[in-house]
Amino acid sequence: MDFHQGEWIECALATERDTVVVYKKSFSLRKKVAKAELFITACGVYCAILNGKRISEPLAPGFDSYPYRMPYQKYDVTDCLGKENTIRVSVGRGWYGWWHWDSRICENSKNRRMKACFFIEYQDGTQAIVPSDDSWTACLGQCERSDIYDGEAYNATLSDREETNARAVETDLDGLLILSDGEKVCEHERLKPVSSFLTPKGEFVIDFGQNLTGYIEFSITAKANEALEISHAEILDGDGNFYTENYRSAKAKIYYICKDGKQEYKPQHTFFGFRYIRLDKKPETVKAEDFTAIVVHSDIKRTGYIQTSNSILNRFFENVIWGQKDNFLDVPTDCPQRDERQGWTGDAQVFCRAATYNFDCEKFFARWLRMLRLEQTAHGFVPTIVPDTSNQAVLSAGWGDAATVCPWQVYQTYGNAAILREQFQSMQAHVRCIGTRSKKPYLWFGNWHFGDWLGLDAPEGSYTGSSDKDFIASAFYAYSTSLVIKAGEVLGENVDEYKTLYAKIRQTFLSTFPQPKTQTECALALYFGLTDDKEKTAKRLVDLIKNCGNHLQTGFIGTPYLLHALSENGYTEVAYELLLREEYPSWLYSVKQGATTVWEHWDGKNEQGEFWSADMNSFNHYAYGAAVDWLYSVAGGITPEKAGFEKIRIAPKPSKTLDWLQVRLDTRKGKVAVKWQNKDGKTVYEIETPTDTSIVIGSKSYEVKKGCYIFEENE
Ligand code: BGC
Repeated sequence: MDFHQGEWIECALATERDTVVVYKKSFSLRKKVAKAELFITACGVYCAILNGKRISEPLAPGFDSYPYRMPYQKYDVTDCLGKENTIRVSVGRGWYGWWHWDSRICENSKNRRMKACFFIEYQDGTQAIVPSDDSWTACLGQCERSDIYDGEAYNATLSDREETNARAVETDLDGLLILSDGEKVCEHERLKPVSSFLTPKGEFVIDFGQNLTGYIEFSITAKANEALEISHAEILDGDGNFYTENYRSAKAKIYYICKDGKQEYKPQHTFFGFRYIRLDKKPETVKAEDFTAIVVHSDIKRTGYIQTSNSILNRFFENVIWGQKDNFLDVPTDCPQRDERQGWTGDAQVFCRAATYNFDCEKFFARWLRMLRLEQTAHGFVPTIVPDTSNQAVLSAGWGDAATVCPWQVYQTYGNAAILREQFQSMQAHVRCIGTRSKKPYLWFGNWHFGDWLGLDAPEGSYTGSSDKDFIASAFYAYSTSLVIKAGEVLGENVDEYKTLYAKIRQTFLSTFPQPKTQTECALALYFGLTDDKEKTAKRLVDLIKNCGNHLQTGFIGTPYLLHALSENGYTEVAYELLLREEYPSWLYSVKQGATTVWEHWDGKNEQGEFWSADMNSFNHYAYGAAVDWLYSVAGGITPEKAGFEKIRIAPKPSKTLDWLQVRLDTRKGKVAVKWQNKDGKTVYEIETPTDTSIVIGSKSYEVKKGCYIFEENE
């Protein structure tokens, strides 16, 4: 059944950019229903309530590449229909109006266009439809204003008003309709407050104990016209006061006017990134226990679990899991709180491997990569954010390379070549695009880049680490080309052209950049195979770490590869030292500071309680969480020897710095579990594998079948 019946309808009541409009239709059914489905979408975010019951997913129809695709949902409403029925659909601006430079989108967004159709099969075999058309009415309702960044204003004393007929309009949107192809966005955990308190400034604050993405719900008793005003924050400042400056222009507030008596509320067209709420105004009777925080994210299934004898490391892992949930809301976003929340390609590229181990995100990434492909220009230019709401023609190494890195990783983890088939042209186009832009042949040279974003070796006042941008870009040129070759080989394509290209890039790279100079440069050279003297480069990396006081200095670009570059080259213990370091700067520093998600900056909040800057300081950025992939694949040692874990390699690398470590990965082939424990001068390994596996313990290898195995090794 497709979705061509039903007209697009609109309403001129949306005079402000954040007005919410309500469409309504009542209809009778004379016969018994065997099956009924509602197809529905809107140019904004809609909430559909059928006979008093909400049937739509949160934030539907979702965040999409709207100039190219118009997603819609299909709901089974068989059990919700009766003889007399009323559907009520409220539509707020949502993400839709973000394409301010696209006149067609602006037009569709302005009047909150929507389209719906019920398809009904009666028990007697006949069928009926109830489509959206100008018999639907439109009005303003209780939700007066809604905006993704600013929040929602709701007046429970209001009744529907300014009722008018909806207007059927001609649009070319039908040609863009696509049944929503991602993971559903759902409500997940419901968290009760862990505490409430007055800050030194006298603010009444509720702490949910976890930085999260979603919204609050409250159930209160109040008098008509009493007001509730709620602000959201991720963190308290050094003095313990509520801190919202890092939300930048995002107001992230709820304004609620009470009706008389008992009432419940949760936002319907927006979301927030927060751990704390501050009640700026409240009826006297309202108390902390009246509030619940509801976690909202794409319905990705958890597949990866890590536990160790180190409780701080364990909390770091939990922070990474939370960071992924919080930022996997329909598209992989940089952060969920400030006036950004965009599908930054670099962040997704950096975190992709860890993400595919933590959760099953094959469908999630497949959808996002489809959008990336659509947004890529004819010249292969990959935007820095997807969906590309910015329309800024910017290409950056490490960001654009999401086009090659993500499909390859998704294929590696899940073993389904469909993703490579779908993306292969896009992968090639990206590599070709680099070739046409570079100012020197066989390098990615002389172009603008973000560089090693937020690297600690940045010059004073800069966001970019001191690694050479041409070095980084050229390394990614080589890496992306190597991934096109690998993908092409899986697909049976002729990749001779790319093999020749790769050889030339590598040769030119080695002669242009004979010696990596920074931690990030060393990590890239080692991990991407762009050094003729691994031993020397690895030694240099270790020296750079030692010379700066035994800590990392890498930013977005170098961090995912740093631990691998060390452990692949004989420095596993240095990798453990870096990972387990608790003082600033380190992965565990933020945990020691009480973080419940991963910070954007190594020094988001320093030991004196001062913030890095309000300008760019998210406390829920998953990028540096990429390190957990090293725990799965090196410390636990689990890697796919054949894509999709068709054949597995298990080569754990234990360390004395931990008493034990336990990793479980639910692969497409089944559960893989590795536990090692240092005990009585021995390391004991317990390994469970679902399929043919090469196990490597120390210098010995074993070829085994599905089963459980125990090994012992003398220290
Ligand atoms: C985002 C990043 C992103 C970056 C580009 C920031 O504003 O939050 O995570 O990758 O811009 O450098």
